[in-house]
Amino acid sequence: MTLVLGIETSCDETAVALVDDAVHVRSSIVASQVDLHARFGGVVPELASRAHVELILPVLADALGEAQVSLAEVDLIAGTHGPGLVGALLVGVSAAKSLALVTGVPYVGVNHLEAHLHAPWLERPDLEAPCAVLLVSGGHTMLVVVDAPGQYRVVGQTVDDAAGEAFDKVARHLGLGYPGGPQIDRIAREGDPTAVRFPRPMRGDGFDFSFSGLKTAVVTHRRMAPDQPVADVAASFQEAAVDVLAEKLAALGREVGAKALVLGGGVAANTRLRARVASEAEALGVPALLPALEYCTDNAAMIAAAGYHRFRVDGPTGLDDGAHPSLRLA
Ligand code: KG4
Ligand code: ZN
Repeated sequence: MTLVLGIETSCDETAVALVDDAVHVRSSIVASQVDLHARFGGVVPELASRAHVELILPVLADALGEAQVSLAEVDLIAGTHGPGLVGALLVGVSAAKSLALVTGVPYVGVNHLEAHLHAPWLERPDLEAPCAVLLVSGGHTMLVVVDAPGQYRVVGQTVDDAAGEAFDKVARHLGLGYPGGPQIDRIAREGDPTAVRFPRPMRGDGFDFSFSGLKTAVVTHRRMAPDQPVADVAASFQEAAVDVLAEKLAALGREVGAKALVLGGGVAANTRLRARVASEAEALGVPALLPALEYCTDNAAMIAAAGYHRFRVDGPTGLDDGAHPSLRLA
């Protein structure tokens, strides 16, 4: 058995988890800074770094306490080393490397995006490959084929805004507050998704996405029809975005003979997207893997899981390695 301690501080969540063999979550603690950044309408990097510094040790203590283990029992320490905000990343990386140094166990630096791809296996260790995965967060929108844990191919991505970014920008424009994705999800339930026929950018056109035109279409529509209920506009926007996301995931699943359709990243929490992906998967006759909400958004259990696999393939990361703010999914 390998007990992995995972640390995540790439953006505005300070998280620590203890995971056995990449699948059994012993504890997963997430301290969100969302309230700290809400009044600025977005994450303020300097505030995020400071908050990580204050939170990292209490969160570590909570995670060890909940798992009822001591540091001496940990076999491997995994920390997110990119992509993300450099000051935020450095807090987690420094903590992970210091712990590795004092305990004498190996450190492994983890790609945050790769970690999102591992989240489904935390709940379904027996999940068969290949899987078609849609990774949708505030910073990324990607279609990925996972051939085995840690082995993947990126087949499509956004050419402009990320899906979560589009949700956040549209929500701000509609005066719905921050973070915008959950607000749109909530208000859209009271709206008519067919009220406005927004464009479905790049529909039927390969595996790439584009969301900036859809966002502009919402802004233009608001100017022309300022009295239309916000719930209808939000529901119509969401329907357009979800249509493209779910259809392309299903098309990829069909093309590669995927054994499952999988969602990952913060936007995977979206109620309508989950429902659409579930029905696309049913039509294909394969399971839909919709991670529990706690594993869709940023958490350290997925970092520990990804670190376990990365370590088995590549071995430890040197303690001279730092943060990689622009790291990509290769
Ligand atoms: O993966 P994540 O927690 O952080 C990174 O970006 O790495 O994703 C955050 C994004 C934000 O843009 C947020 O608005 C979006 O996920 N989001 C949602 C929902 N919950 C979070 N978007 C749509 N519907 C939701 N229910
Ligand atoms: Zn993330």
